[in-house]
Amino acid sequence: MAKEKVVYVCSECGQESPRWIGKCPACGAWNTFKEEIIRKEPVNKRPHSGIEPVKSKPITLDDIESGDEPRINMRDEEFNRVLGGGLVPGSLVLLGGEPGIGKSTLVLQTVLRMPDKRILYVSGEESARQLKLRADRIRHASSDCLIVCETSLEQIYTHIKNTQPELIIVDSIQTISTETIDSSPGSLVQVRECAASILKFAKESNTPVILIGHINKEGSIAGPKVLEHIVDTVLQFEGDQHYMYRILRSIKNRFGSTAELGIYEMRQDGLRQVSNPSELLLSQDHEGMSGIAIASAIEGIRPFLIETQALVSTAAYGMPQRSATGFDLRRMNMLLAVLEKRVGFKLAQKDVFLNIAGGLKVNDPAIDLSVISAILSSNMDTEIERTVCLAGEVGLSGEIRPVNRIEQRIAEAEKLGFSQFLIPKHNLQGLDTSKFKIELIPVKKVEEAFRMLFG
Ligand code: TYD
Ligand code: MG
Repeated sequence: MAKEKVVYVCSECGQESPRWIGKCPACGAWNTFKEEIIRKEPVNKRPHSGIEPVKSKPITLDDIESGDEPRINMRDEEFNRVLGGGLVPGSLVLLGGEPGIGKSTLVLQTVLRMPDKRILYVSGEESARQLKLRADRIRHASSDCLIVCETSLEQIYTHIKNTQPELIIVDSIQTISTETIDSSPGSLVQVRECAASILKFAKESNTPVILIGHINKEGSIAGPKVLEHIVDTVLQFEGDQHYMYRILRSIKNRFGSTAELGIYEMRQDGLRQVSNPSELLLSQDHEGMSGIAIASAIEGIRPFLIETQALVSTAAYGMPQRSATGFDLRRMNMLLAVLEKRVGFKLAQKDVFLNIAGGLKVNDPAIDLSVISAILSSNMDTEIERTVCLAGEVGLSGEIRPVNRIEQRIAEAEKLGFSQFLIPKHNLQGLDTSKFKIELIPVKKVEEAFRMLFG
């Protein structure tokens, strides 16, 4: 007879406990333990130390064949790059993102572009008709992709056995459940058991599987942060729903670098790859407008130029407001303190709003200089020339610190027709400036940059 077991599982981190407890000992969250019932089939065989028939054999590293992993071309340059050069056979990929961001669209349009592969698209969320409507919207060429609307893991395995697909999509892992466990679909135990079972299947059959997973507001893949440990690759699809740009980021990758990034634009007819982000991220005409500076940023391996916009105004009511979109608010406050202390601007009584164009979130510290310049430009209501771009990290004493990969940044700025580039002085060391046509203006301190920009 099946045995039932009650466990309490932390919905934040997946920690298990035999009793209910108020505070999770693993992640420190309060009131996150939920009851889960697990029904396990009785196990007849207990592990014993007797001699078992051998299935695997230990070998030395020298005996293992090396060489590149063969990769499956996803017919999508951005997707391929983020995966580290294509999908590895037998790998389990988790694609996470907030609901409505475009995960299903991305995967569907990618698989529809692979007509020579047998693909099984398991949809637990949408009906076949809904999928058809979406496919019509993205105007696909006809393809052999098979669609099945199913949520039972056992049924899915049956379909896989019957259709022998070369690639499987599961949309989404939170809707799939297995009969061996009694808890409801989407619960932590279900999600974890299903993912672990799919992983085992992927490895044994050498079939790649892409799992789609929803992320909750805190940014962890809903409940199952544990999933991140199970899968080979975790990709995150992010962006602001009100903007059209979407970023595909690699968070974990057993087969490639996590520094990769893909940029897409959501359109009426699906997602379009953006191969030259700078041209989109720079709004075309802002002649005579103050508060705008162009930063050279690098996300992943790609340099791009991005507009930083600031608005500084006198705080009319009480406490001055500080707000930053696409930039760390604490870092902005730090930069404001540097401006107060080192350059002598009185910003304490001012409202400061900062915005990175396009709804992108930029983590590259090299945009500090541009953030400061945009704030000063707005504060003085003086425009920064449209032909100038900036890169530099700002330190606590107002010094401009060197940034990485300066040559790539310069080349990108030159390509887009900028004529002056403010760079950290330290970056000039060992730099062959003769090959660049753009005028490089080295700056060492915030004051210097200020003088250069505003005279
Ligand atoms: P979807 O792929 O369903 O998101 P997810 O699977 O992450 O929940 O995308 C839904 C959004 O994308 C929806 O708001 C409509 C928009 N969309 C477009 O703008 N253009 C399109 O061609 C498609 C298919 C969707
Ligand atoms: Mg979806």
